[in-house]
Amino acid sequence: MPSTSASIFVFDAYGTLFDVHAAMARFRDKVGPEGDRMSEIWRTKQLEYSWTLTMAGHYESFWTLTGRALDYAMARVPSVPKSLRDDLLNAYFKLDAFPDARVALRALKAAGHKTGILSNGSPDMLKGAVDNAGLGDDLDGVLSVDVLKMFKPRPEVYGLVTDHYRCKPADVTFVSSNRWDVMAAVSVGFSGLWVNRSKMPDEYLDFAPRKVLSDLNSLANLP
Ligand code: LAC
Repeated sequence: MPSTSASIFVFDAYGTLFDVHAAMARFRDKVGPEGDRMSEIWRTKQLEYSWTLTMAGHYESFWTLTGRALDYAMARVPSVPKSLRDDLLNAYFKLDAFPDARVALRALKAAGHKTGILSNGSPDMLKGAVDNAGLGDDLDGVLSVDVLKMFKPRPEVYGLVTDHYRCKPADVTFVSSNRWDVMAAVSVGFSGLWVNRSKMPDEYLDFAPRKVLSDLNSLANLP
């Protein structure tokens, strides 16, 4: 049983529990040799749209932005057949969970902790991914920024967690593979765990995570 004092574990969704490159991977044979580059551009643009629209005071659902980012990525990488557009987008709606996501959520629940998701994802796409991965029973809350019409890393978004669980920020351990997401969570008083799946250099050093993990396998056994 984890000996950490925080008893509410909230996870970022895309990139942390769900593999954002799984959509492209399902069509790897058809997308051709530039599939990885297209998928990277897709993810980067999706996030960029969320940040720039929020900064400018606008909002479109993350699902809409995911589609627009895919169109941009396919225009940048014309070797990917345009006929795959709808298949890729549909696959994103039902993304695969990382195998370690289920392991971590089950272990945390078994140890008596509360679990949840806080995500930019629209409620529909989060339900699609959670249902597809069969993670619903392992989650005590699936919180979408959609109720606020603004995206991470606005501090108001992280306030959805303390409102939902009726807790203090110090009671929350926030887990994300996005270092900027951990930065924002730490800045509102959560304990942060950075899942550095792609072995990136550290950044945002003024907002350090409590620990850096390479995946979610050891999460429930942290000292
Ligand atoms: C999310 C994105 C940022 O799930 O990964 O919120």
